[in-house]
Amino acid sequence: MSFFTTPGDDELLHYITTEDSQEMEKLFAAARSAREEYYGLDVYFRGLIEFTSYCKNDCFYCGIRRSSPCARRYRLSPAQILECCRIGDRLGFRTFVLQGGEDPWFTGERICRILSLIRHEFPDHAITLSIGEWDRKSYEDFFRAGANRYLLRHETAADAHYGALHPPAMKLSRRKECLYTLRDIGFQTGAGFMVGTPFQTPECLLADLRFLQDLEPHMVGIGPFIPAEGTPFAAYSQGSVNLTLRMVALTRLLLPRTLLPATTALGTLAGDGREQALMAGANVVMPNLSPQDVRKFYSLYDNKICTGDEAAECVRCMSLRVRATGFVPNMSRGDSKLPVTADLQVV
Ligand code: 5AD
Ligand code: FES
Repeated sequence: MSFFTTPGDDELLHYITTEDSQEMEKLFAAARSAREEYYGLDVYFRGLIEFTSYCKNDCFYCGIRRSSPCARRYRLSPAQILECCRIGDRLGFRTFVLQGGEDPWFTGERICRILSLIRHEFPDHAITLSIGEWDRKSYEDFFRAGANRYLLRHETAADAHYGALHPPAMKLSRRKECLYTLRDIGFQTGAGFMVGTPFQTPECLLADLRFLQDLEPHMVGIGPFIPAEGTPFAAYSQGSVNLTLRMVALTRLLLPRTLLPATTALGTLAGDGREQALMAGANVVMPNLSPQDVRKFYSLYDNKICTGDEAAECVRCMSLRVRATGFVPNMSRGDSKLPVTADLQVV
């Protein structure tokens, strides 16, 4: 018997807002067994490569927004990106996540060239892109060049709230269109949102859950909002760890086959935040493979953890944490159990 059959809005709002510790534990236990049904106790490892901190966007919450006077900028060369992949491969990673701001230097052509180089050297690895909004043709080019997965958080599925977090040029409708396009092309697609951003209400979080049910993404990244210096939201308060955990659990229950990371942002707000996320239904961790000297400059928010450690150290630390929480580190590709709807024939 599952925890939810088809929960109504009131029921979801109840679990979004409850502070009752017994109710929360019930929710987390149900989320753990839903995860176990499809994925067992495995926790999948992804190697994260943050390859550029330049961004042409100006999202109000983000520490690398274009107009931040505090952001330090760097971009890795294709050779450096490839070297990160090699280091990751030697550490056992079979998934590379290439994440960056929307940096005009990285044209579609350059991205495709980098993808081809990685794909040539690592024919069996999963390559995930997380580089924002592009047109359909570019997404198709990335897919043909060897990318299998794409992460693009929707950030909030409530239209007015999206408008309160972004400059007028950015639209929720466009973000959603990108996500449906990615899914149609055949990417394993990841959406996601922040918890506790300024002006967020329980109804916004309900809209996030309803949107996720409609999109049925293969992955969902959920992290607390953390203020970043040099942004319009620098003085707002951070998101709640407990509310973030409840959103992880609710997402697991509504989309039992999705892959859910225990995010670095949760680990930043609580020493055991990622472990708590695993206990609330998460099943992915993303240790950092970015070169040590640039890591601290990819500061989406203040006090980000894991910025000083070597990649090997980060993997060892995460493996220990995963085991200590009762789960099993898994370095394989760890594809989503949700099928892909592939429109595009790769030739
Ligand atoms: N706090 C928490 N998460 C943030 N992100 C960006 N800025 C912040 C912040 N201040 C998240 C966004 C983005 C992802 C890469 O990082 O959700 O999609
Ligand atoms: Fe990176 Fe612990 S996970 S140092």
